[in-house]
Amino acid sequence: MVRVRFSRSAPWLAPVAFTLAACGAGASPPPIQVPVPSSAAEAPTGFDNRSNGVADDSTHQADQDAFDEVEEIADGLGPLYNAQACRECHQTPTSGGASQITELRVGHLGPDGGFENADIPIARGTVTIAGRTLVNDRAICPNAAFPDSEIQERVPDTETIRTTRASLNLLGDGLVEAVADETLIEIARAQRRTTRGTIRGQALYVPILEAPGETRIGRFGWKDQHASLLSFSADAYLNEMGFTSRLLPDEVTTLCNTVSEPNNTSDSSGLADIDRFARFLRATKAPARDSVLAATPAARRGSELFDMIGCATCHVRTLVTAAAGAVLNGGTDTIPPALGEKTFHPFGDFLLHNVGTGDGIVMAMPEHYGPAVYKVVWRQLSIDSVGRTRNKMRTAPLWGVRLRPRLMHDGASLTLRDAIARHRGEASGVSRRFRKLTRSDQAAIIAFLQSL
Ligand code: HEC
Ligand code: HEC
Repeated sequence: MVRVRFSRSAPWLAPVAFTLAACGAGASPPPIQVPVPSSAAEAPTGFDNRSNGVADDSTHQADQDAFDEVEEIADGLGPLYNAQACRECHQTPTSGGASQITELRVGHLGPDGGFENADIPIARGTVTIAGRTLVNDRAICPNAAFPDSEIQERVPDTETIRTTRASLNLLGDGLVEAVADETLIEIARAQRRTTRGTIRGQALYVPILEAPGETRIGRFGWKDQHASLLSFSADAYLNEMGFTSRLLPDEVTTLCNTVSEPNNTSDSSGLADIDRFARFLRATKAPARDSVLAATPAARRGSELFDMIGCATCHVRTLVTAAAGAVLNGGTDTIPPALGEKTFHPFGDFLLHNVGTGDGIVMAMPEHYGPAVYKVVWRQLSIDSVGRTRNKMRTAPLWGVRLRPRLMHDGASLTLRDAIARHRGEASGVSRRFRKLTRSDQAAIIAFLQSL
């Protein structure tokens, strides 16, 4: 088996030395191996609601309470929303996990053939919600105070590009946030070089809301739309629940909206809800494996085959975070000791690929980064690069996949075998190799996946 190695010294800074082997016709691409500094330690895993060390357990519990809190109209919920609590969609098997809940995203093609964000008429067509691809499934109006306001969003026939998107796992995401940009960029390079460009993950610079003008390689969301958990929390609070924050202060619509939002402001400890959500996520432990299944001969054989046939070219087994003290998110954050130089096993590269499943949706800039996004000059942000993501999806990290009965971005694959069979495009060669395996070798890979 061919190993690809980054240089052993400071992987995110040093020029990268690869050991490359000729990748002959039909040969499997090698698994991507990120170099692990000898001082690195294994990140803790578990579904025990305990902190990974970023916060003490009582702080972590208080932060989880904020994440779990069911919001009401009087708190500022809506006017357009999808659910009343983060936990409603991020719940299995514990707060911060994934769930079966999917949401709607739509758009259409413009006259030049390019993707355009959706225009959703509400209020009997008198108001149009624009600049978004998300269609909120719930609205607070009409209600007793506004009996004549009709603001429920629905998909108009004109929005012909349509998809559902599954809720994601958030457990362990503090580790993902603490991975250096350079590590992700080097993985994309290694993919290109070892597969002669067949597999070519896209690393996308995205805005950091808390550091206007600054960008980082996106790693969160099905389109890698955020790099910072604080930015994502503000995005989710607004677009899933209808709560504004200091990072996204504008409501999606002013209709039906008379409640000033107490959660918009900070509490006695100086933290706003979005700060608590972000700290909660940063302190979660990574998903734990099913150790009983993982030890079976079938799962162990499947683990080897997974590497051998090229699944691990995208579903990268091990990543390592940057050192404690390293700054990230445009200088607004520093990696705490509990997250510094930790190895973890997401089975993902956090890069965007076209594996033939692309949903045709380009991320809506004003939705994720606020209506003022185009007034800021964001370093390294390329609108062309964003446009190229149209038919790409982020490699689904496979940690905790055994806990997700509905698979892929649309939740439409109901078995692991079906999910693998949908891999085409960049993954065509790899999925062909899967099909050519004997029935028992295929079953071994499935057994391995069921242990993740
Ligand atoms: C109605 C369901 C729903 C609610 C409520 C919800 N989310 Fe999500 N969450 C999703 C979906 C769906 C995605 C994937 C979105 C996408 O990329 O299209 C997601 C993705 C995320 C991600 C990215 C995770 C990753 O690893 O890529 C974060 C972080 C997140 N949500 C945080 C939150 C927070 C914080 C809240 C509460 C303020 C919240 N979510 C409320 C459904 C929800
Ligand atoms: C070229 C990169 C690439 C390769 C190679 C690849 N995958 Fe994937 N995988 C992806 C992407 C991208 C997705 C998400 C696609 C989507 O949601 O539309 C995905 C999704 C999955 C999922 C669904 C997980 C979930 O949580 O929904 C499974 C299971 C999976 N892959 C297994 C495999 C196996 C097994 C192999 C090897 C036979 C493999 N993949 C090879 C990129 C890849």
